[in-house]
Amino acid sequence: MKIAISSDHGGFELKEFVVRLLNDLGHEPLDLGCHSIEPVDYPDYASQVARRVLQGEAERGILICGTGLGMSIAANRFHGIRATLVNDLYLARMSREHTDSNILVLGGRVTAKGLAEEIVRVWLKTEFAGNRHSRRLEKIAAIEEDIPGNC
Ligand code: RB5
Repeated sequence: MKIAISSDHGGFELKEFVVRLLNDLGHEPLDLGCHSIEPVDYPDYASQVARRVLQGEAERGILICGTGLGMSIAANRFHGIRATLVNDLYLARMSREHTDSNILVLGGRVTAKGLAEEIVRVWLKTEFAGNRHSRRLEKIAAIEEDIPGNC
């Protein structure tokens, strides 16, 4: 799977680890930076990944900042992005099954590498369950389109 990935300085170290993991798992990471621990602004990097996913250049994305909070807020500004901040395995599964997460967000200062690896593995392999969950995601899309009478 082609996966766009980026981080700010707070997520740089974990991002490097996840890029290696994706390669080892046979995926195709598109590493959009950052490339050092020099301070940068996470919205710049969230935008890069969100745009690649929306344009179909990558099937899914992964974003990592210090906490995962800023990246989540920024990425979810893009209509069609369902960015989910995940810090345990239950959320990794549910973010895919129920909310069809197309961007996984991790906190580089929150989640250790061993757990992050398991989260990434579960998030990559879990399918969206559809059915009633599709209806709910359609309602989120309606909010994005600002369709009156919806929600
Ligand atoms: C950067 O210091 C930090 O604010 C950022 O990585 C992130 O945690 C923001 O939500």
